[in-house]
Amino acid sequence: MTTTSLIDRAISVLRSNDTGIFTKPGPHQYPHQWNWDSALIALGLSHFDLARAQLEIRALLSGQWQDGMLPHVVYHHVPSDYFPPAGFWQIEGSPHAPGVPTSGITQPPLLATVISRMNSRTPMPDFINEVYPALLRWHRWLHTARVVDRSSLVCILHPWESGTDDSPRWLNILATIQPELLPEFQRGDTKYVPATERPHRAEYERFIYLIDIFRKLRYVPNDLLTHSPFLVQDILFNAILFRADEDLRALAVSVGQPTDEIDDWLGRIRLNFNARFWNDELGLYYDYDVRSGEPIRVNTAATFLPLFAGLPSRRQAQRLVEEHLLNPDEYAPGGDVRHWVTTTAKAEPAWEPRRYWRGPVWIIMNWFLIEGLHRYGYDDLAEIIRQDTLDLIEAGGFREYYDAHDGSGCGSAGFSWSAALTLELSRESQNTGNRWLGND
Ligand code: GLC
Repeated sequence: MTTTSLIDRAISVLRSNDTGIFTKPGPHQYPHQWNWDSALIALGLSHFDLARAQLEIRALLSGQWQDGMLPHVVYHHVPSDYFPPAGFWQIEGSPHAPGVPTSGITQPPLLATVISRMNSRTPMPDFINEVYPALLRWHRWLHTARVVDRSSLVCILHPWESGTDDSPRWLNILATIQPELLPEFQRGDTKYVPATERPHRAEYERFIYLIDIFRKLRYVPNDLLTHSPFLVQDILFNAILFRADEDLRALAVSVGQPTDEIDDWLGRIRLNFNARFWNDELGLYYDYDVRSGEPIRVNTAATFLPLFAGLPSRRQAQRLVEEHLLNPDEYAPGGDVRHWVTTTAKAEPAWEPRRYWRGPVWIIMNWFLIEGLHRYGYDDLAEIIRQDTLDLIEAGGFREYYDAHDGSGCGSAGFSWSAALTLELSRESQNTGNRWLGND
């Protein structure tokens, strides 16, 4: 098959998941609108239908809460067999809930980055003027409602907020949570996807238990920060936010808005990110468990996200690449693993080649990594991973994730962001020119 036909097939995946209002991440498994999926979907759509990409973003923003929170799922009154259904969240308990049914938690803030990229390719000042206030309110909410200490780093309250739902990063914290009374529920996620590719029961029960805590607290931000047993400063989330703040700043400049508030956020994250997350002994970034006051010592591909944000020094970037990314016992092909890049280091005890975020290759993580490598001048390596990623999609189809051993597809078929990122990765040059300019 030629690249052209791969592009045509990617476009038809996005078209076939289009409900007219929003694009489903996957035809059966994910029938509503997800936050960071939607950002990537808009980026994919912008390659062939800019107006439709803008509609995707408007649909997502229609779910914004009155306090600025942008939820991880907007249900849009679409009937489905998805669990948890809209009503499960009981968002009407919050005075800030919007008119549209949504979940009560958020997801990594990729949207400003995507919009800024779209705008730099095709300037769209009217659209930026339209969406900028909503983006600013979301970022402001993250930098206030989710900050608990002087580090100014933002907290997540649920593994689903990390976007890497079932990552082994969360296992120890989840194991300390003992659900007192679990609400009655029936999982829907193993209906279309084999249970062996989905989270284990113990973790899933805690996902639901956390929602029950939040809905009882009526989503009052301070109460959530005080009572949530899961309170984490996540490397991936904070790196994406930092990058998105930079991109939000670029949008502000493009439409003549002030940047002081954004500069302040950027300054604080830049000051604290490495001090909090970097482990110099191992040359890795570790998330931070706010409840225990300890780093979460689990080695996953989230450690590479700071490259995407330009936050590591050159020396730190070199250690990440040479000691970890290129290490066949961790992320590089080697042994019976043939593909870049496993979502969890192979040496981790929780590593599983086909289960959700426990090891398989996810196109989104490869994309972050490719972007981050270019930023630090590792263009050849980025190109190798880009080719491997496109080959994986060519052979396995547009799947949610891929078995790290043989590249066979796992999870949802017809997965929108794998299609959207195919369009992005198929651009001739992946070098965004967004080079790292800091000191060593
Ligand atoms: C899974 C992923 C999450 C994604 C969602 C919809 O839950 O872990 O990151 O947003 O599916 O695709």
